[in-house]
Amino acid sequence: MRREKDVKYPGNTKRKPEQTWRDVEAYLDALQIAPDRVLEGARAASAAAGLPDIAVTPSQGKLLYLLAKMRGARKILEIGTLGGYSTIWLARALPGDGVVVTLEADRRHFEIARKNIVRAGLAKVVQRRLGRALDTLPKIAAEGIGPFDFFFIDADKESTTEYFDWALRLSKAGSVILVDNVIRDGEVANARTADARVQGIRRFNEALAREKRVSATTLQTVGRKGYDGFTLALVLPAARSPRRR
Ligand code: SAH
Ligand code: DHB
Ligand code: MG
Repeated sequence: MRREKDVKYPGNTKRKPEQTWRDVEAYLDALQIAPDRVLEGARAASAAAGLPDIAVTPSQGKLLYLLAKMRGARKILEIGTLGGYSTIWLARALPGDGVVVTLEADRRHFEIARKNIVRAGLAKVVQRRLGRALDTLPKIAAEGIGPFDFFFIDADKESTTEYFDWALRLSKAGSVILVDNVIRDGEVANARTADARVQGIRRFNEALAREKRVSATTLQTVGRKGYDGFTLALVLPAARSPRRR
């Protein structure tokens, strides 16, 4: 049952913007996100196991699903599984012969994700890999599973630049790369930030600005996860090598 949430906006100026972001997200979720036992169960099981509450929100999960679906993705690579919440959204975008490969370094997260993915009926579609992504990515490249059509980069932010490089290596023209948590309360625009994770994103932004193989844009977001954002990149057809003279 969908119930509309009343948002006292814009009349009351004493309200904290964060509260409005939450209320609007709840309002939109009630209208656009179908109640879903599997996804809600995965979130609840992750919380019960003590995992951090940092999975994508339902509306963001649906964005992942829609982007992967629009791309017609058959092979998806996710870096940072946590409890598998985003993994389930992504896996549901696949055709029957599709696959999500998802990388996770934390054994406990990896195990909770296994249970959530089994309960979602997606064990055959999702390949989980335990280990630090910088160790597993070369193995995935060597196995020749790719190229992947869609990437979701959402692990340790310090390594985002390297993950993006790997995504490019494992991509083809037309592949889509989505990177989470690139705004971090606006701290990304602070060159003197003390947060190593934000410095990681700044280093990524500088590399991205020089990267000729993609066309990219960054979207700022607000909601129950606060003020953050995504970078969306499209892998371009390989440029012809310049003629020698
Ligand atoms: N994509 C998930 C959230 C991921 S949270 C969702 O939206 O549902 C980030 C995850 O990255 C955590 O589970 C963390 O353990 C994992 N992680 C951190 N460093 C990592 C690394 N070096 N390699 C692989 N995973 C890593
Ligand atoms: C954190 C990590 C995430 O991937 C996220 O979406 C939100 C927060 C974190 O480490 O704080
Ligand atoms: Mg994230």
